[in-house]
Amino acid sequence: MKNVFKTKSISSLINETKGEKSLKKVLGAFELTMLGIGAIVGAGIFVITGEAAANFSGPALILSFIISAFACGFAALCYAEFSSIIPVAGSAYTYGYAALGEIWAWIIGWDLVLEYTVAIGTVAIGWSGYVDSILKSLGVNLPNALLKSPFEGGVVNLPAVIVLLAIGLLLIKGVSESAKLNSIIVVIKLVVIVLFIVLAAGHIKTSNWHPFMPNGWGGVFAGAASVFFAYIGFDAVSTAAEEVKDAKRDLPKGIIFSLLICTVLYIIVSLVLTGVVPYFKFKGVSAPVAFALQQIGINWGAALVSVGALFGLTSVLLVMMFGQTRIFFAMSRDGLLPKFLGAVNTKTKTPITSTVIVSIAAAIIAGFLPIGIVSELTNIGTLAAFIIVSLGVIFLRRKRPDIKRPFKCPLVPVVPILAALFCGYLILQLTTATKIRFVVWFALGLIVYFLYGSKHSTMNTEAEEQAS
Ligand code: ALA
Repeated sequence: MKNVFKTKSISSLINETKGEKSLKKVLGAFELTMLGIGAIVGAGIFVITGEAAANFSGPALILSFIISAFACGFAALCYAEFSSIIPVAGSAYTYGYAALGEIWAWIIGWDLVLEYTVAIGTVAIGWSGYVDSILKSLGVNLPNALLKSPFEGGVVNLPAVIVLLAIGLLLIKGVSESAKLNSIIVVIKLVVIVLFIVLAAGHIKTSNWHPFMPNGWGGVFAGAASVFFAYIGFDAVSTAAEEVKDAKRDLPKGIIFSLLICTVLYIIVSLVLTGVVPYFKFKGVSAPVAFALQQIGINWGAALVSVGALFGLTSVLLVMMFGQTRIFFAMSRDGLLPKFLGAVNTKTKTPITSTVIVSIAAAIIAGFLPIGIVSELTNIGTLAAFIIVSLGVIFLRRKRPDIKRPFKCPLVPVVPILAALFCGYLILQLTTATKIRFVVWFALGLIVYFLYGSKHSTMNTEAEEQAS
């Protein structure tokens, strides 16, 4: 029992990243920021915003985005500190190992499956929705049976399944190829968002912003918990740690810059969206950004935005799948997951087995579950991980005040405590069903840990290397 609270020394964590099994180091600060934006801008802004405005926030959608941005901003500063101390592929999972102990690391790693694999499923469902709307505008109608999950009267969401398998193949080819493709896609999606702002801004009617909070502050906070999905991904930057040339310097930059850029964009987009279309019209709309342009008669712009959004969603899939495989890679290296999940192919230097498993698991989620359930599950898993990481910063400051911190989170413990409070409050806003599903997932995780991880952990087999 004592072993489950054992921490790993930072030097041993970093040493493990060296040697034969290591990943190829090809990324710099620019690629990392692109990677962050690649992971962040996706289904949140292109799909979920409309429903959040219609069902919860109303024109106060901008406030929901700002509240969520605070939760993420505080958490991002904590991630940035950890990433500069422990630039290891496991991200939050590894930070938990160093600061809090093995069982906490496992709990975070298990949560991150919700953040990454389930998010990939969510985004693929959004991707499929955009493919359908583009095909429809070209006169091609796919049958509902191949577009919807069994919960929504269909059989399987086929486009979502296909795109996930294709992304898996691309990642197997190599990180450098994937990073290049990601950078191109990120430029396309940023151009599309700026185009939307430019085209729509002149059509804002201030009367659409009244009443500003149709559901009061309760609606604003519920909206914040929902649009939180739009920010997820800045932390995925830290999963690329072992493929970065100067990780200690560039990881914090990648995390903070990508979140800042996206926050500014989201705030402007939410203001414009609710300014051009009355909020209640977004009910049931799965492509709100394109819809807003259609409503003001700019159909060519709507078509262009749809194509751009499709690219945008693709890069989220790419980065998040990449992130999940790197976390599995780290967990299996520590013995908490079976070794085959961390196997790196000697030719491509990519973890092929975990990539195949993640793409198939995400394809099953996207093929057979509805977007509402999976997006909320992603949010709760991510929020829980953010809370543990933030508190971990305080613990590590106390336990190891001596270690070099190339990036320091300001105002500790205030900022980490604020991160935990904001994220905790957002969790309270999610539906009861989501909370129950999360508890079940959590319990399942503990069972797996005690049956497998705690027995196979390399901490049990290696000599103690505690530096403290
Ligand atoms: N933030 C990512 C998205 O909105 C997960 O798609």
